[in-house]
Amino acid sequence: MQFILITLRLIHIAAGAFWVGNALMIALVLLPGVRKAGPGGERALPMAQISQAMSLASLLTTVSGLLLYWLVSRFAWGWIASPFGIGFTIGSLAGLAAFLLGLFSTGPTAKKLAALGGQIQAAGAPPLPAQMAELSRLQAKLTTSSTWGTILATAALALMAVARYA
Ligand code: HEM
Repeated sequence: MQFILITLRLIHIAAGAFWVGNALMIALVLLPGVRKAGPGGERALPMAQISQAMSLASLLTTVSGLLLYWLVSRFAWGWIASPFGIGFTIGSLAGLAAFLLGLFSTGPTAKKLAALGGQIQAAGAPPLPAQMAELSRLQAKLTTSSTWGTILATAALALMAVARYA
């Protein structure tokens, strides 16, 4: 049992650090740079690979988190309603919301941007007006969903970091 808990914690914390650290790097450093470059600036980024790495890290964090939650709480009301249980539970809900946002909005939008960027590059000509409009729309959607995902994942990290001491 101890071995399983230790392994899950290692996976959970390492994948969570990768997820939140990179989400902050993308939201605070990379996307503002891309916005400055104008529509199509994201073509400089390996969007498909970034999206894959973030999907894997968020999946590992969430699955190991759900297993840890079950193993440490056994869904007992006494644990959930305790001060640290409330911290871990609200943190878990924030982490789950960040995961679902990535799964259904940020990830698919990043993939569409990568595909459109690839199409434009393959054509070897400046983007058509319709492609420019689609690029701007996707870029705005990516910014909104990745900003919310980053806020939720950072809130999960902050709550989990302090919950044990509540
Ligand atoms: C952005 C996402 C997340 C990050 C960065 C994160 C980070 C962390 C960290 C650093 C700890 C260690 C805290 C300590 O031992 O004092 C922890 C523990 C924990 N996390 Fe998360 N977490 C995330 C998402 C989740 C989710 C989605 C769940 C459940 C659905 C979850 C469930 C748990 C549980 C139950 C523990 C306590 C484990 C134990 O006591 O051994 N986490 N998390």
